[in-house]
Amino acid sequence: MWDYTDKVMELFYNPKNQGLLEDDREPGIAVVFGEVGSIACGDALRLHLKIEVNSDKILDSRFQTFGCTSAIASSSALTELIKGLTLDEALKVTNKEIADFLGGLPEAKMHCSVMGQEALEAAIYKYRGIPLAVHEEDEGAL
Ligand code: FES
Ligand code: FES
Repeated sequence: MWDYTDKVMELFYNPKNQGLLEDDREPGIAVVFGEVGSIACGDALRLHLKIEVNSDKILDSRFQTFGCTSAIASSSALTELIKGLTLDEALKVTNKEIADFLGGLPEAKMHCSVMGQEALEAAIYKYRGIPLAVHEEDEGAL
């Protein structure tokens, strides 16, 4: 049995922002989603973002995951942390910040908090029209 904090368990039982965001085509608003893993397969996560185009701000987000307790709690935490941030600010949210928000995560479960960030990155890069593969090569070159 993993040693989860009360906050992790609270968000596992009552996750915030779980589900999807409909694209209701409001003017000046974009809705995108990013995905990691394979939804058909198992450990996977999809993160939807509602973006105000002019300000580049995240107005809202929702996640869906088949991942474990930590993935659910981390994704829920991420949706709360990124609300109101610009896309550039959201890209800087670290998995340590996610873990801190949760009062800590077991070391072996830190990777679950990374899934949310990867889905966030995938959504933002899709929105910006940047292929993820190019981004990964860029990172390798740094
Ligand atoms: Fe993907 Fe079984 S469905 S490994
Ligand atoms: Fe796979 Fe947490 S999402 S172990």
